[in-house]
Amino acid sequence: MNLPQLPAFFEGISEQFIRENLLSDDFFDFMNANKLPLDTMMNYYECAIMEIETKFRVLDSQFSLQYDRNPIESIKTRVKSLESIMKKIRRKNTSFSLDAIQRDINDIAGVRVVCSFIDDIYFLADCLLKQDDIRLIERRDYIKEPKESGYRSLHLIVEVPIFLENEKRPVKVEVQLRTIAMDFWASLEHKLHYKKNNLGADADQLRLELIECADMSSELDRRMQDIRNRIYNPRT
Ligand code: GTP
Ligand code: MG
Repeated sequence: MNLPQLPAFFEGISEQFIRENLLSDDFFDFMNANKLPLDTMMNYYECAIMEIETKFRVLDSQFSLQYDRNPIESIKTRVKSLESIMKKIRRKNTSFSLDAIQRDINDIAGVRVVCSFIDDIYFLADCLLKQDDIRLIERRDYIKEPKESGYRSLHLIVEVPIFLENEKRPVKVEVQLRTIAMDFWASLEHKLHYKKNNLGADADQLRLELIECADMSSELDRRMQDIRNRIYNPRT
């Protein structure tokens, strides 16, 4: 076969592959057999997110009554997409079963809590971890020990029970607590990750500038915390 015919040849193969595999009755049977368990698993994570989000909202409202200010600026939640779960399975070499996914992937349910001040992060984390239905699986303090990129946040992997019709089921949730400044930085730095192939040599320069910005923003967080402390506890 000469070269110009190759694309047409592959097109033929892919059409045939799709018809024989992806559109086959066997594949539909496989999808139907696994759709309910998969939807059920994803729903566990949705429910666990609701539990954790409510716990933070309760703490925020109690704190605002007591101290007349809200420690939480915003809460963002997400369930990892199936595509990202698949990519993580590939990256971690995890076996492809729902049990293995639930055992090995800790961040399918994600809750991000954004605060104004660093002290609020530790306060909220302590309050959550003191609750007797929360089990701490992992704590990573990227505020005390920032990542090489400059990334800062407090990460907790916790297990929270969800109460179903006939069972109580522990479900893992990744909680990220950060300040507004850390969140602002992380969302810009995240963009560099998926644009870096188009940026050529400038990507390295931007990485360095972002490390510098992370240090500046951490200094800002520290000073704002200090000013707040002095407003509420005057030295006089
Ligand atoms: P992942 O496989 O990416 O989940 O990493 P991990 O399991 O080793 O956990 P890690 O604590 O490193 O990161 C978990 C999450 O924190 C990521 O999915 C991001 O949301 C966030 N994160 C970690 N490092 C960085 C970073 O350098 N930049 C930004 N923007 N976000 C980060
Ligand atoms: Mg992750």
